[in-house]
Amino acid sequence: MRRLDQLLANLGYCSRREARAWVEAGRVTVDGQPAEDFSQKARPAQVRIDGEPPDHPDGLLLLLHKPLGLVCSHEEREGPNVYSLLPERWRRRNPAVTSIGRLDKDTSGLLLLTDQSPLVHRLTSPKHKVPKVYRATVDRDLSAELAPWFASGTLLLAGEEKPCSPAELCLVSAREATLTLTEGRYHQVRRMFAAAGANVLTLRRERFGPLDLGDLAPGQWRELALDYFLGSESL
Ligand code: URA
Repeated sequence: MRRLDQLLANLGYCSRREARAWVEAGRVTVDGQPAEDFSQKARPAQVRIDGEPPDHPDGLLLLLHKPLGLVCSHEEREGPNVYSLLPERWRRRNPAVTSIGRLDKDTSGLLLLTDQSPLVHRLTSPKHKVPKVYRATVDRDLSAELAPWFASGTLLLAGEEKPCSPAELCLVSAREATLTLTEGRYHQVRRMFAAAGANVLTLRRERFGPLDLGDLAPGQWRELALDYFLGSESL
């Protein structure tokens, strides 16, 4: 049961103050009857707002094809962000829709977004070793010795004391490779290639656990069921 003014505000319809006006104007019904008071408690399934059921009252989980040029931070001073691609109502939700891990501004590809913080913690924790597959192009030919080094669990990134977990490198061509990571350190792919003397020119995340981008174009997203990751078999 949730208070009506809280329900409307948390789902991004309007402010709590505005929600009070919406209730007074008869825009909100409970079990088919105009709500009596903004403080009335109801289950979302009982509620209609302008005749419609509440928008995703249990939460959101989205798979976005992140385009280049957008950041995952909510901080406006960091520039245009991925949340600008979402409907305005979803951008006003509380708890906020946020990314599960981050991709750099100059990285495209598969990004999960959710308002479910336990899911963020579960899927970003190195403990769960969710494999993430990146495709990179680099500015020099990659040597065949790189794959065993990346897989060895001994690669140290500049400024860090703990070596990277074993990662799988597959050469696609002399200057292109896929790299599968089970952790997510800051700029990890770029820094791993930098440790090998190569600069990453383009970077795209192709897979996250069992998920791929399918035919989603950059900037497009699709919804996933909230329980998609329940049960470790889907990881
Ligand atoms: N590694 C990077 O260097 N950048 C990303 O966006 C993701 C992984």
